[in-house]
This record gives sequence, C-alpha cells and structure tokens, in this order.
Amino acid sequence: SSENAPGSDGADFIVAANRLPVDLERLPDGTQRWKSSPGGLVSALAPFLRSHSGAWVGWPGVPDVELDELTEDGLRLHPVSLTSTEVRDYYEGFSNGTLWPLYHDVVATPVFDRGWWDTYVKVNHRFAEACAKVAAPGATVWIQDYQLQLVPSMLRDLRPDLRIGFFLHIPFPPTELFMQLPWRAEIVRGLLGADLVGFHRPGGAQNFLWLARRLLGLEPTRGAVGVRTRPGVIQLGNRAVRVGAFPISIDSAGLDALARKKETVARTQQVRADLGNPKKIILGVDRLDYTKGIDRRLYALHELLQEGKVDPDEVAMVQLATPSRERVEHYQRMRGEIEQIVSRINGEFGRVGRPVVHYLHQSVGRAELAAFFAAADVMLVTPVRDGMNLVCKEYVACRHDLGGALVLSEFAGAAAELTSSFLVNPHDLDGVKNAMLAALTIDPAEGRRRMRALRRQVLTHDVDRWARSFLDALEPEHGH
Ligand code: ADP
Ligand code: G6P
Repeated sequence: SSENAPGSDGADFIVAANRLPVDLERLPDGTQRWKSSPGGLVSALAPFLRSHSGAWVGWPGVPDVELDELTEDGLRLHPVSLTSTEVRDYYEGFSNGTLWPLYHDVVATPVFDRGWWDTYVKVNHRFAEACAKVAAPGATVWIQDYQLQLVPSMLRDLRPDLRIGFFLHIPFPPTELFMQLPWRAEIVRGLLGADLVGFHRPGGAQNFLWLARRLLGLEPTRGAVGVRTRPGVIQLGNRAVRVGAFPISIDSAGLDALARKKETVARTQQVRADLGNPKKIILGVDRLDYTKGIDRRLYALHELLQEGKVDPDEVAMVQLATPSRERVEHYQRMRGEIEQIVSRINGEFGRVGRPVVHYLHQSVGRAELAAFFAAADVMLVTPVRDGMNLVCKEYVACRHDLGGALVLSEFAGAAAELTSSFLVNPHDLDGVKNAMLAALTIDPAEGRRRMRALRRQVLTHDVDRWARSFLDALEPEHGH
C-alpha cells in the first residue's frame, strides 16, 4: 500500500475524473452533506475502487469551494476546486456544449468557443497537478473521460515516472466529425500522453489510430483491434502507446443480490400496487439527456395509444429522469419537450388518479431502483447514441426471475453484447413501436430464454473484469 512506498505518503493507485464519486450538497439551512454523484462513470468505478485501495481526484460538484483531502465511504478523496466561471466554461461549456454533442454524432450542434477551450486547458492542467501531487513514485494513474483528455500528456510532463492510463466513457466519434474540432490535434496529443488509451468499442480505437496517423503523422499498427485483445500500438520515440477496446460493465453480483433481498421483493410488489396493479409496466431510467431518446419512446407510446394498440387501462409507464446539466440550453429544451409529451399523453389517455405515464424528474436510491427494475415488464433503453449504457445491464442483473423484456437501441455500445434484447433503431418510430408491442406480448418461455442469455453475458462480464482487463493491459510488461 501507499504507506509502504519509500519516502512518500502518496497513493499507488489513483483514479482521476471530473467528478468525485460524491457531490457536495449545500442545504438551505447552511449545512452540507455528501450525496452520490450522477451518471454511469461513478456507478461503475465507485464499487471497484472501494474494493481496491486507491485515491480519487475530482471536483466536488459545486463551484467555489476549497476542500481538504477527506475519506468518505471508504474512499480517499482529493477535491479539485473550480470557480463558477470555470464551471461555466470548462464543464458546461467545452465539456458539455462542445465535446459531448460532438462525440455523440452531433445530435445537438456543438459550439466551438475559444474562451471555453482556454479554460479547458487551464482546468486540465490543474487536474494534472493534483494527480502529480497525490501520486507515489511509480504509481498508476487512471484518468477518466472526455473532460480530462489533456491530462495524460500534462501529467507525463510533470511526472515521467508514472504509469498512466486513460479511458473514454462516451463514444469516440467518426473521424469526419472529430475533424470539425479546431483543437483536434491537441486532443489527440493530449491522449497520447497515456501508456494505454481505452475505448468501449473497437471502432473508437480504430478511429483514434487513424487520427494519430492523419493529424500527427505517426505510424500506428494496422491490424484490427479486438475486444479486450489485440490493442493497436503507436510508437512515440522510445515509448509505446497502446490503444484498445474495453467495454465497461456494472457490479452485476451486487445488484443481483440487492434484487433478491426480501425488502426489495416486497418493495417491488408495492411499486406494482402503487401503480394500480396494471397488467404491464413499462420503464425508462435515464439522466435527462438529449442523447437518451426519452422523447422517442414517449412518441412511440403516444401513437400506440392513439391507434388502440396499447390499452391505457392495462399499461402504465414509469419514466425516472435524473436532473442533469440543467443550465445547458439543449438540456432545458429537451426537458420541455419531454414534459410536454408526458402531459399530452396523460391529458388524452389518463383518468383521475390513474395517469398513463408516471414521470419523476428525480434521482432515486439504489434499492428503490432495483425494485423498479424488478417490477418492469418492459424496459425501454432508446438512446440515439450512447457509449455503453449501464441501465440496460442493471435491468438484466435485477431479473433473476427471468421475467421482463429489454428493448435496446442499436446505437448503445451495449447492443453489441446484449444481442438477445429487442434491438431497435430509435429514429425508426414504427420499429420502436413494433419492438414495444413484441416486448409487451412476448411468450413467457421465449422471454425467459432471452433473459437467460442476457444474464449470462452481464453476470460474467462485470465491472471487475472490465477494470482488470484494462489494468492488466496497462502493466509495463505488455507494452515493451
Ligand atoms: P450515463 O452515464 O450517460 O448517465 P449510464 O446508463 O451509463 O448513462 O449510467 C447511468 C447511471 O445512472 C446508472 O447507474 C443508473 O442506474 C443511474 N440512474 C439513471 N437515472 C437514475 C435515476 N432517475 N435515479 C437513480 N439512478 C439513476
Ligand atoms: C456520463 C459521463 C460522465 C459524467 C456523467 C454524469 O456518464 O460519461 O463523465 O460524470 O455522465 O454527468 P455530469 O455532467 O453530471 O458529471
């Protein structure tokens, strides 16, 4: 452990991400408390890091606070502070107004703002310095996601002794789209500071290799990158950078156990009763993000109701939507559209005390979420683009009863693994409607067959396996 490192009290294993796994919440009475941070990155990495000793460098989720190092829920946390201007320009601006839409197939138009870029560079530098300070000699630093793409090379300049990994949790875009970015070469150079650059899918790794050749004149290997195998290699002087595909997953066993608990089973029945014991329950669970296709599934349901193919007396839908990036304009617009279609459906097809769509713009706890998954006959996961999507894996992990049916977008990374789901193109509304109907009316034996196959995938490929495969590939002996 780090205490044994000679001449240093630094950590041997460090995760750096824009967010800490917990968010500081300031209550109206002036007190503060920590709550769990939103999103898949934290859902996947927090359980992994808790079971392996390590430190986490990240932002506490609120602007203008200076915090000392602390230990929370068994994790050593090193807060990086951001001013409100930096939150606006680095987080809401360059990260979520430029990179997020650009990397998600420009489903919203990315804004290219030079001031935002300058702040992104400055904040990435602050994260690199924080990592350099926390790391013991020869430590491994694992940098996460699109907010920190410059940190690998900045950190290597500060601390050439470190082993540096980088993983991108969102899609890496087609090269034609990436080429729009005015700072495209800087981003590729930033990532090449790592010893291993990881993506969810081989396609992302392949795109990155192509860009290294095209933008920096490097000579990457040409072989096809495999899943967890055959990484590409880019030689940079006497240093080799490997580029591979490592599809992320969840704490499958933990969630399976939670779903089997007596309390969860009781709560599942209560959820069904609260909804009026409908014949079928449809569920959606997402951060409220325009990439998630929440609007598409609601439009599909609306048409099915209008056509009389779904009976509002028999079917209830629950949509749980975690508030997200609420000051970014595209998010405000999507929220308005979703809330309009929800109230339209309920206005036309609901009855007093019996809405068709139960919409919560809230985050719910893990046990509660497991109960909703277990109660849902049909799970709708319909993003127009998603790096992986963990919600669909969580649903599968909660269905030890082999009940339920998963409708999953082809444009989620998970579609390559969860091939026994009902795969849909979310842009094809008729296709979504047909898949919803098929899932609602599936023969129970066929449903169990599909769910068994899905569970085999999710339970054997969990987050520990993901982390181990990445960290094994990061070991020096693989690189040289
Ligand atoms: P993203 O990282 O883009 O948000 P993922 O599907 O990979 O998408 O991960 C989302 C995570 O957030 C999952 O662990 C999911 O359970 C959780 N989550 C999403 N919506 C809610 C909600 N309303 N309440 C609680 N947890 C949620
Ligand atoms: C996705 C991203 C994460 C991000 C999360 C929540 O999972 O890949 O990096 O933390 O969404 O978004 P937020 O902007 O609230 O951190």
